[in-house]
Amino acid sequence: METLRHIVLFVHLIGFAVLFGSWAVQAFGGKREVTRLMNIGLAIAAVAGLALAAPWGLPADVTMNYAKIGTKLVILLVIGALIGIGSARQKRGEGVAPALFWGIGVLTAANAALAVIW
Ligand code: HEM
Repeated sequence: METLRHIVLFVHLIGFAVLFGSWAVQAFGGKREVTRLMNIGLAIAAVAGLALAAPWGLPADVTMNYAKIGTKLVILLVIGALIGIGSARQKRGEGVAPALFWGIGVLTAANAALAVIW
């Protein structure tokens, strides 16, 4: 079970990498648009993150930090809303507002920082 939990954590990290990587491509040298790959990365991180939020496959002395997990879930929902609003505006031919675009990257980095620092 512990190995399976590590595999789910690996999948969670792949989701983070796809989301942050696809955002970074757009931010540095791209058109600063919202892309489908961001949604895919977010979905992978969300599904694996929710699986990790349950206390299974942990060593006996480890307790879960539910305040941290709840905060990460709220931030993930905000990122999802920003991506949704951004892609709706793009479909209407409007640009993505800088605050919205940068918000996606900053909040994604913030969630990774919360995961490792809190
Ligand atoms: C964009 C969203 C997210 C990012 C960038 C992200 C990032 C990360 C990273 C980098 C780790 C590895 C930490 C380590 O092993 O030291 C991690 C672990 C973890 N994440 Fe996420 N995460 C996200 C969303 C979520 C969500 C929505 C949940 C649950 C509701 C969640 C639950 C967990 C859990 C339980 C762990 C393993 C234990 C821990 O270190 O807290 N994550 N996450």
